Amino acid sequence: MAAKKLCESFSKSLIDDVQKWGCMKQTGVSLRYMMEFGSKPTAKNLLISAQFLYKELPIRIARRAIELENLPYGLSVKPAVLKVRDWYLDSFRDLRSFPEIKNSDDEKEFTQMIKAIKVRHNNVVPTMALGVQQLKKGLRLNNVGYQNLHEIHQFLDRFYMSRIGIRMLIGQHVELHNPNPPPDCVGYIHTKMSPVKVAESASEDARAICLREYGSAPNIKIYGDPSFTFPYVPTHLHLMVFELVKNSLRAVQERFMDSDKVAPPVRIIVADGIEDVTIKVSDEGGGIPRSGLPKIFTYLYTTAKNPLDEHPDLGTADLVTMAGYGYGLPISRLYARYFGGDLQVISMEGYGTDAYLHLSRLGDSQEPLP
Ligand SMILES: Nc1ncnc2c1ncn2[C@@H]1O[C@H](COP(=O)(O)OP(=O)(O)OP(=O)(O)O)[C@@H](O)[C@H]1O
Ligand SMILES: [Mg+2]
Repeated sequence: MAAKKLCESFSKSLIDDVQKWGCMKQTGVSLRYMMEFGSKPTAKNLLISAQFLYKELPIRIARRAIELENLPYGLSVKPAVLKVRDWYLDSFRDLRSFPEIKNSDDEKEFTQMIKAIKVRHNNVVPTMALGVQQLKKGLRLNNVGYQNLHEIHQFLDRFYMSRIGIRMLIGQHVELHNPNPPPDCVGYIHTKMSPVKVAESASEDARAICLREYGSAPNIKIYGDPSFTFPYVPTHLHLMVFELVKNSLRAVQERFMDSDKVAPPVRIIVADGIEDVTIKVSDEGGGIPRSGLPKIFTYLYTTAKNPLDEHPDLGTADLVTMAGYGYGLPISRLYARYFGGDLQVISMEGYGTDAYLHLSRLGDSQEPLP
């Protein structure tokens, strides 16, 4: 079924309400705040947290819904994008039609509702990626024309950054209800996360995919003190290291698979500074040409095969994995920036690539609120 125009499928009062909420000011929170607040998940605190989300989530969601309606180059009317927009509007409506949260029972019901919202939005990234692919095909663009789509990159950066924030807030609130949280965990935050251990597990996962795809995989060496810990969200770090290692393994594998030489290992170095924890993922996979470097953080650039060319039915299936869309680096950088960090990639063409993942140690930086 083709998604319908906004005015056909949603009432005018809902659209007016979206406009109104979309203009309100968003409120950001920091990692430290989430950690301190969440360390005392009393009924009273859970109520305060739910009341905050009751006001904050519709503001953030309305902003995204409005933006989804006003994208350039006809992206807004691509079927996949309409589908995403409808998820946002459905979630906005669920939140706005929920009665005021006055007591613990209301709070519990509200928690179930936002949990369902989070699930509804699980496939936003691959579905948007599909919409962008549809646009790219429609415009007959290949990797050359990406500069013209600057506005779309900027939009996607804002859109996905906002999504990271919304999911963090919902996930954190839901997790605080866990009666038996794992030791040293406050919701999604691990107060004593070992970056070396997370890097080990992300590397194993990436290596398993490489083995599956190529039949062999370069080794990975990790340097750093496994007993060093700091507060962070392990799932975020796992995702970032996984993406970086996947890129490195692919580069090394492609370069060495037909050669007599032994593939050099991918090296991961974890450094604990005063301001930052920095993780370097270093490979000898031949690097990236300088002309390609400005494109690697865009959502349209990939040197991998387009999964849509190989599986045209991806458009209708429920996508859960994403390979070769060119999303690994830009999304990882957003995760890094979400808590005040950053990601940089430096390449020596003909030799290899170093990716520097900086994570802010202090946890004081406010969420970026696009
Ligand atoms: N370590 C690396 N060595 C060589 N090229 C790299 C490396 N990392 C990234 N690249 C280049 O940058 C492009 C973009 O990387 P990115 O991770 O964003 O997307 P992808 O790997 O193509 O697809 P996805 O990560 O979404 O599956 C890659 O296609 C590749 O050409
Ligand atoms: Mg990648």
